[in-house]
This record gives sequence, C-alpha cells and structure tokens, in this order.
Amino acid sequence: MGLKHLTIASLATLGAVSAINTEQRPLVDWNSPPISADSSSHKPPLVDSEALQATITVDALLARAKHLFKIAHLSQDEYNRPTRVIGSKGHLGTLKYIYKTLTALGDYYTLSKQPFPAVTGAVYESRLLIDLVVVESASPMSLTPPTRGKQPVDGNLVLVANEGCHAADYPSAVKGNIAFIKRGTCPFGTKSAHAGKAGAVAAVVFNYEDGPVAGTLGTPSKDHVATFGLSGVDAAPFVAKLKAGKTLAASAYMDAEVDTIVTTNIIAQTKGRDPENCVMLGGHSDSVAEGPGINDDGSGSLTLLEVATQLTNFTVNNCVRFAWWAGEEEGLLGSDYYVDVLPAEENKKIRLFMDYDMLASPNFAYQIYDARNDVNPVGSQQLRDLYVDWYVQHGLNYTFIPFDGRSDYDGFIRHGIPGGGIATGAEGIKTKKEVALFGGEDGVPYDVCYHAICDTVSNLNLTAWELNTKLVAHSVATYARSFEGFPERTLDDASIKAADAYAKGTKYHGSKLFI
Ligand SMILES: *[C@@H]1O[C@H](CO)[C@@H](O)[C@H](O)[C@H]1NC(C)=O
Ligand SMILES: *[C@@H]1O[C@H](CO)[C@@H](O)[C@H](O)[C@H]1NC(C)=O
Ligand SMILES: *[C@@H]1O[C@H](CO)[C@@H](O)[C@H](O)[C@H]1NC(C)=O
Ligand SMILES: [Zn+2]
Repeated sequence: MGLKHLTIASLATLGAVSAINTEQRPLVDWNSPPISADSSSHKPPLVDSEALQATITVDALLARAKHLFKIAHLSQDEYNRPTRVIGSKGHLGTLKYIYKTLTALGDYYTLSKQPFPAVTGAVYESRLLIDLVVVESASPMSLTPPTRGKQPVDGNLVLVANEGCHAADYPSAVKGNIAFIKRGTCPFGTKSAHAGKAGAVAAVVFNYEDGPVAGTLGTPSKDHVATFGLSGVDAAPFVAKLKAGKTLAASAYMDAEVDTIVTTNIIAQTKGRDPENCVMLGGHSDSVAEGPGINDDGSGSLTLLEVATQLTNFTVNNCVRFAWWAGEEEGLLGSDYYVDVLPAEENKKIRLFMDYDMLASPNFAYQIYDARNDVNPVGSQQLRDLYVDWYVQHGLNYTFIPFDGRSDYDGFIRHGIPGGGIATGAEGIKTKKEVALFGGEDGVPYDVCYHAICDTVSNLNLTAWELNTKLVAHSVATYARSFEGFPERTLDDASIKAADAYAKGTKYHGSKLFI
C-alpha cells in the first residue's frame, strides 16, 4: 500500500543515480575469520555491563558535542548557518569525524561506507490563494515539485471524491485546475500523482483533523504536481462552499526543487566472534537544514561513537554492529536503503536493532518505544523490557511512546527484525504528569530547539545524556555477551503478519506524515 520504502528501484528511475549500484562496496567483511580463543595472551576482559557503563563520562560526551558543533559551522558559507544536512560540508565533516574516530581504534572493527542515492527537496517560495485571499496556513509538502515554469498557475478549486486514492475519484473538471483532496487512507504521494495524471496544475491535501499537515510526498514521481497541505480548520469553509456548488477561483505558486545526491551510511562491526548473531544499533549522522542538530541526532550518534570507542577495551561473544545513518531527516533514507539491499541470509543474522535518536533533550522525558511482540517482530518486547528494568533499577521513571515510524527502526521492523530504542522527546509538549515524573517544565516542548537553529551544545541536558549513554552501554554489553533468553529470529507467517500490522498502523516516515 503505497509508500512503504524508498527503494533503489524507484530512485534509480530518476536517472542520475544508477551508476552507484555497481560501485557499492561490500557492507561488512562477512568472511573475516573468527578470532581463536587463545590468540592473545593479553586478551581484554569479556565485556561486562557495569564495567562498560563505568567508562562513560559526561566530559568525553561534551567534548565530542563541542567538536561536532564546530563541524556544523563548515556549512556556514553555503547555508548561512551551522547545519549538518546531507550534501553540506557540515555533514561531510561529520562523516569524516566518525570514520576517523573509528579508524583510530585500530583493527577492532571492520569499517564500511555504504553510499546510496538520497532525494533532497527545497522549497524557496510558495503561495496559495483561494477566492482571492492568500491562505497563510497552506504549507508546501516536502519533496513537492514546483508549479509549471516555477510560475503561478490559476484554476478553480475542484473537490475530489472520497479520499482521492483512486483515479475514479477525480472528476474531469480537475483538468487544468487545482485538486482539493481529503487526507486519509493512502499516502500524500499517491494523491498528488493521481491529481497530476488527471491533469491538475496543483493539489491541496486538507486534513480530516483540525491540525495542519506537515507531510511529505515521499519518493518523487513524474506524475506529482505542486502540492500543499491545509489544516482541517482552515479547509472547512472551502469544503462547505464547494459542496454548496459555489465556484472558488484559486492560484498556486511553488518555487521548489527536487534533487538526488549520493550520501553515505557508515557501518562498524566487531571483527570475528560470532558473525551469525549480531546486535545492531544506530543513530543518524545528518541534521535538518535549519540547524546544527546537536541533540537531533548529535546526541545519539556521539553516544554510539563513545560506546564504540570504550568497547574496544573488552572482548565480545556476539557480533556488535554500529550504524550511522545518513538521510534520516529526508525520510529515513539510509536505514531504509540498508535493510532493502540486505540479503535475506544477512537479515537473519541481525538478532535485534536498537535506535538511538535524541538522547539529551533539554526538557527531557525518559521515553521507551512501546515495541511489543504482538504487533512487532518477536523480541521487540524483550528489548523494551531491558530498558524498563534499567530505569527501574536506577530509581528513575519512564514513559512508553508510540512505535510509529518516526525514526530509523522503521525499516528494520518492516523487514521482520525485532527493534526498539529510547529517546528523550522532540516537538511534543511536556505534561504536568510528566513533570512529576521527570522534573522540567510543563506546557513546553521536550526539545524547544527541535529542528531549529538553536539545537546547539547548550540545548543538551547533560544529565539525561550521560544517563542514557550508560543505558546504551548496558544494552550493547548485555547482547554482546549473550542472547540467552532472547527469542531466535524467525521469518514465519507470524512475523510477516506483525510487519504488515505495523505498516498499517504507521502514518509517519521519519519526522513527516506521509499518509
Ligand atoms: C583502554 O584502557 C586503557 C587502560 O585503562 C586506557 O589507557 C585506554 O584509554 C582505554 N582505551 C579506550 C579506547 O578508552
Ligand atoms: C518518579 O515519579 C514519582 C511520581 O510522580 C515521583 O514522586 C518521583 O520523585 C519520581 N522519581 C524521580 C527520580 O524523579
Ligand atoms: C538537566 O536536567 C536535570 C534534571 O532535571 C537538571 O537538574 C539540570 O539542571 C538540567 N541541566 C541543564 C543543563 O539543563
Ligand atoms: Zn532525529
């Protein structure tokens, strides 16, 4: 059903990117021989959760954050602000920093870079007029194409039947006009393509709820037309007038661009040991264009870097695979790509995936993804409970949050791999009840600088970051040591059903609504 994955196949149709398929380097050295048990007389001790946690210091984390903020400034000339958005010097600098840090760890890890095509969009200017009035609240969808010739286009606003998920919902009057389509049932990208095929010059998707539509069209299509989102509140008067048979003249203008660039995931896997049983964890190396992304996801990606560094003083029984995804902010592109091209026999070796995205929000809550075995691949709940147990043991409160596709765990769950993770909150508003649980301020976002210029070093709560990094260390140490009691991977009907049920229940793909 519609936009499930941004696949290489669909992206390759854009033309510019097919070459990188063949140049792709192997993801990891699958064939590296296991280290024999007595290969070294100075063998470091087997990893132990308490010992690994004890290596985590706030000073080391803070030093990394300050360095990352400096790296974000490499984009200053081009973007007029610090950012680590894919394609920017700040992001390239981030990748270099991660890779160099890992290289300096000697031969503990097999490193690989996984290039992939990433679609990026930019909207420079947009305007929607209905009935001669500018609709201020109309917002351009991400990855929208421009209007024809990047010029204003005029037409009547034409109400589309049902939710515009079928060609038959589009009356012939849509041709040369602006399609007005209700949100729901199918992805925004499907609606925009239907509108384009019916000859619309632009489209507006209006919400069935009061709130706005911060959406994305997802994988570009030649049929897409310039598309806006409109809140239910603002759409209601127009819907009423159209239903009463009134004609509404409209004008749409969109100056936008959609481009494909190549960016890179970085993967580090412990050498030898048991390559058949891997614990995998990831954070994203990129930020949005609006700011430096030091909490989102500087915090998670630096936590991974620090844990990967400290782990080298220990031996592991199982394989540990760290990933720094790129293109998360454009719609989970890096992690989607990774699981899409992962051969089935490699998929099975990943016992679980742990997502670490935003671990140090200034007005934080200790959030655990509510990943459950009845609706997610079996094992997800055991992981969830590992986090629960740790917070409880440390006398801390936690809340469960929806496991609904907003971060890089999405592709793993869709491909049947158990997953979960922790976070500290994004644009959501902290409640009074949560203030009782965690302190902080009610009525204020968990991260007031989410996707903003002020997501700098001073946006981090170091208490939350240190604590959560210790929990990440605990999760790595636990599964690096043993999967005892953790369910075996299965690719049976139940897990396929779980992946389907999950896909039906998600309306986010990354930070944006897509349906
Ligand atoms: C490993 O332990 C040694 C000895 O305690 C220490 O000097 C070194 O810095 C540690 N390595 C890392 C990567 O922290
Ligand atoms: C956990 O929540 C309870 C109930 O609101 C509160 O009394 C307690 O202080 C909280 N614990 C911590 C460590 O904040
Ligand atoms: C981080 O959170 C803790 C606990 O709520 C609080 O005491 C501390 O002041 C916060 N630190 C910063 C830098 O905001
Ligand atoms: Zn993020």
